[in-house]
Amino acid sequence: MPVIELFETNNPVDDADLQFDANGRLRHLLTLRGLKREQITALLDRAETFLSPPGQNAVRSNTLHGVTVGNLFFEPSTRTRASFEIAAKRLGADLINLDVNTSSRKKGESILDTIYTLQAMQVDVFVVRDASAGVPAYIARNINNRVMILNAGEADVSHPTQGLLDLLTIRRHKDNFEDLTVAIVGDVAHSRVARSASEGLMTMGVGELRLISPDALAPEQDDFPGAKILHNLNDGLRGADVVMALRIQRERIDSLDEIPGMDEYFANFGISHERMKLAAPAAIVMHPGPMNRGIEIESSLADGPSSVIVEQVTNGVAVRMALLEEVVKTMEKK
Ligand code: CP
Repeated sequence: MPVIELFETNNPVDDADLQFDANGRLRHLLTLRGLKREQITALLDRAETFLSPPGQNAVRSNTLHGVTVGNLFFEPSTRTRASFEIAAKRLGADLINLDVNTSSRKKGESILDTIYTLQAMQVDVFVVRDASAGVPAYIARNINNRVMILNAGEADVSHPTQGLLDLLTIRRHKDNFEDLTVAIVGDVAHSRVARSASEGLMTMGVGELRLISPDALAPEQDDFPGAKILHNLNDGLRGADVVMALRIQRERIDSLDEIPGMDEYFANFGISHERMKLAAPAAIVMHPGPMNRGIEIESSLADGPSSVIVEQVTNGVAVRMALLEEVVKTMEKK
């Protein structure tokens, strides 16, 4: 019989507060809510130092020597899991990837008992992805004061390191967030990427944030304060400096009958060369991956000169290095 775990109700305000230690330092990253513009800027500045020029070796350091990082991914991942592993190793940490399919959670062990077991082996930083809302905060409330929790994707609620890497990618191409119009297109309703990007962009003072979706995939305005919710792609793209296509989150959609067929979806909400003529001349195209080519984005556009999708992946390692370094500063001495 499957074990049912009850997580505390997700409370964004509490979660935002829970991230900081008694000295106001970032100890966990649960959400981008609650982070100040200066804190995000400092993380992005540090991440820049971990980016090496093309053709040069990756930047390494030993600042996490003696630290053990545990990757706990209870949902599939390529980019986030691999980049946390690479980030930890480039900083000299030890790392374990828990194989969820062969772990004792399959025998009914609770997530907290899984954490406590690894904590007893002196894992210091847990990187957690889970399909249930509230899991990262639930763990953060129940671990000892030497351990750090990093949210690597929480249901449709939050994906804060994706938000940071998206901000870094935008910042490397555009001068001022205040002058930008950003268009996020597609399945906004189910997207933790859109939520974290929106939170980060709002904190950085983005000029205008547009969310463009079919009716069935449109978000609640309350979830995106300050953003414009639109249903017409041409209106959404006109003059945009940054265009971010989203993956259709099939695993979170109750009835696929409610969403447009894939040809209809591409015709009305797919980002294509033709549609991009409406955007600003130097607009960049983003996608968090994994992409459904020919549905969310025209394949040749994803590989073309305006696309920064590969850079997003590279920047993900740098951002996660900066974050690991930052939270490890809060470790209490034994
Ligand atoms: N963008 C993102 O979270 O990708 P993965 O699911 O591959 O980690």
